Amino acid sequence: MGSYLDAFTMEGKVSIVTGGGRGIGLGIARALAGAGSDLLLVSRTEAQLAAAAGDIVRDFGCRVEIIAGDLTRIETFPGIVQRALDRFGRLDVLINNAGSNIRNPFLEVSEADYDAVMQIQLKSAYFMAQAAAREMAKAGRGKIVNLASLSSKIAIPNISIYGAAKGGILSMTKALALELAARNINVNAVAPGYVRTHMTEAAFQDKDRCDWMLSRIPLGRFGTPEDIGNTALFLACPASDYLTGEVIFVDGGWMAA
Ligand SMILES: NC(=O)c1ccc[n+]([C@@H]2O[C@H](COP(=O)([O-])OP(=O)(O)OC[C@H]3O[C@@H](n4cnc5c(N)ncnc54)[C@H](OP(=O)(O)O)[C@@H]3O)[C@@H](O)[C@H]2O)c1
Repeated sequence: MGSYLDAFTMEGKVSIVTGGGRGIGLGIARALAGAGSDLLLVSRTEAQLAAAAGDIVRDFGCRVEIIAGDLTRIETFPGIVQRALDRFGRLDVLINNAGSNIRNPFLEVSEADYDAVMQIQLKSAYFMAQAAAREMAKAGRGKIVNLASLSSKIAIPNISIYGAAKGGILSMTKALALELAARNINVNAVAPGYVRTHMTEAAFQDKDRCDWMLSRIPLGRFGTPEDIGNTALFLACPASDYLTGEVIFVDGGWMAA
């Protein structure tokens, strides 16, 4: 007889995590591995991926493959999906997490800034979802989890491109959920509040900003990669099979206040 917790297991599943070498992506990769998933981690920094993979294999005993590559190169995406199939024989989950940001007042934003942030945050996520979904459609099942943000819904100063991209992530999540539902592919988003990572380090170094951020969080603490990993795991596992086109804010209550 199975356990009620079977709905929360990832045993026998295979997940791609973009940007899985550090920060939130690593937190998500560890949550998926802890629940039994094998992993394919993709980012540009091979040493970081190798270190993350070594730790995950040691801690959870799953199989982990890595690809060092630039995810602005859309033409490489079918090959990334193929690597998961070649190594593990299936693909169940895509975590669309890789991203970066450029802080700049709107009046000073250049076209190059715009293209850089939009490319990795929105265009790459869109086409990575397409590459994964083409394979998931053949298998008749799959889960895609996109990384949204507080700035998907509210304005935060000096990150207007990022906000536009993350707003796009929410629209894209709903649009893909609608189109892929008949293929039994769920598409959802997790929207972290502030988590201290490479991307947010400058904000965390600024005491006034830190105090302001903390003052907005009813639960009184910043998020951790584990907090985001746990919610992404829920969106990746069978327990969320009837959930699609949704976003879950994991923000300590920021959006509720
Ligand atoms: N931290 C927060 O408070 C927060 C809040 C809301 C949403 N988010 C979102 O959460 C996601 C993860 O962010 P994070 O905070 O964990 O930042 P992070 O620590 O800087 O991690 C970003 C990851 O993306 C990878 N990446 C960036 N550009 C890439 C490219 N061109 N090709 C391949 N990989 C690339 C990075 O690896 P390489 O540099 O080695 O390629 C790294 O693994 C992002 O989508 C971010 O927008 C973060």
